[in-house]
Amino acid sequence: MYKTRFGRFFCGDALNILGSTDFDAFRGKVNLIITSPPFPLNNKKRYGNLNGDAYREWFINLAPVFSALLSEDGSVVIEIGNAWESKRPVQSLLHLESLLGFVKEEQAGFRLIQEFICYNPSRLPSPAQWVTRERIRTVDTYTHVWWMAKSDFPKADNTNVLRPYSKSMEQLLSRQDFNRGKRPSGHHISEHGFLKDHGGSIAHNLFEMEPLDEHREVRLPFSVAEFQEKGRLPDNVLSFSNASSNDFFSRVLRENGIRRHPATMHPGLVAFFIRFLTGENDLVLDPFAGSNTTGYVAEKLKRRWLSIEINEDYAQQSKIRFSDPELQTEITII
Ligand SMILES: C[S@@+](CC[C@H](N)C(=O)[O-])C[C@H]1O[C@@H](n2cnc3c(N)ncnc32)[C@H](O)[C@@H]1O
Repeated sequence: MYKTRFGRFFCGDALNILGSTDFDAFRGKVNLIITSPPFPLNNKKRYGNLNGDAYREWFINLAPVFSALLSEDGSVVIEIGNAWESKRPVQSLLHLESLLGFVKEEQAGFRLIQEFICYNPSRLPSPAQWVTRERIRTVDTYTHVWWMAKSDFPKADNTNVLRPYSKSMEQLLSRQDFNRGKRPSGHHISEHGFLKDHGGSIAHNLFEMEPLDEHREVRLPFSVAEFQEKGRLPDNVLSFSNASSNDFFSRVLRENGIRRHPATMHPGLVAFFIRFLTGENDLVLDPFAGSNTTGYVAEKLKRRWLSIEINEDYAQQSKIRFSDPELQTEITII
């Protein structure tokens, strides 16, 4: 549908397009597949979603298709929220069964490398009937992010997504006098083990989009490359620009009365995994791209990208992202 300096956007059904000759050139070449797939909704057909068994089967069938596209050290990252049983205050197991089925699909040969939890308190209370009307359930505020790969050692470098040191760690580093010896936990702390400045501490597998405790510093991951380039601590990775309602994309949608895609991924989450699992010029694929958050972030981080979306309206609105002057890219409609 369109292409930019680093990527190409296709409008149509993901399975058809991924299986087409257009994609032959990319088999075995994709470094990262990152996506939030259509949800297993029980009663709505907004995205043309499948229900129950049909959804699970469809989802599991994606595994061999993704596997054939991935490079041997590539990764798949899937974000999926919790699902609820139709008209019942009961959580569905469908998304978990689908993820388990995906990772256990034999031909694809995936394994779960690590699960991440994305805590986002600004999510709307859902399911509204049980949470805000009857008040018998709490607000569902997190999504699951599953990182999977074909080998135990997919390409990954956590030094690309470090968190700033805590104040106390910074003091330790400047004092250079950490009490060495055995801890009550049984860990042995060497004399120099803790005193080396690695530029930041290691990221966690819980993304806190807002702090759980407002008095605690969250210390979200930042990009080391930006740190080196700017010579000062950059904005953290998860506060990637375009995450707020005042970014270029949101403004243009508002000014033109265009209804925003209802379930966009957090650009910071995409940025985290792109930086963690790929290098410049690597190839990133999002087969259920919606408003193409993935393509936008990849373009910004100078990764090649391929995105697919079935819904023409979402495909159209995704083009807006690439007129963002910050990106300095050109978009060509094909
Ligand atoms: C959760 S949304 C993805 C949103 C996206 N991450 C973003 O940031 O805008 C899932 C998307 O998958 C699309 N979709 C559903 N079935 C599809 C299919 N068979 N092929 C391609 N896209 C599909 C839906 O239209 C929807 O936009």
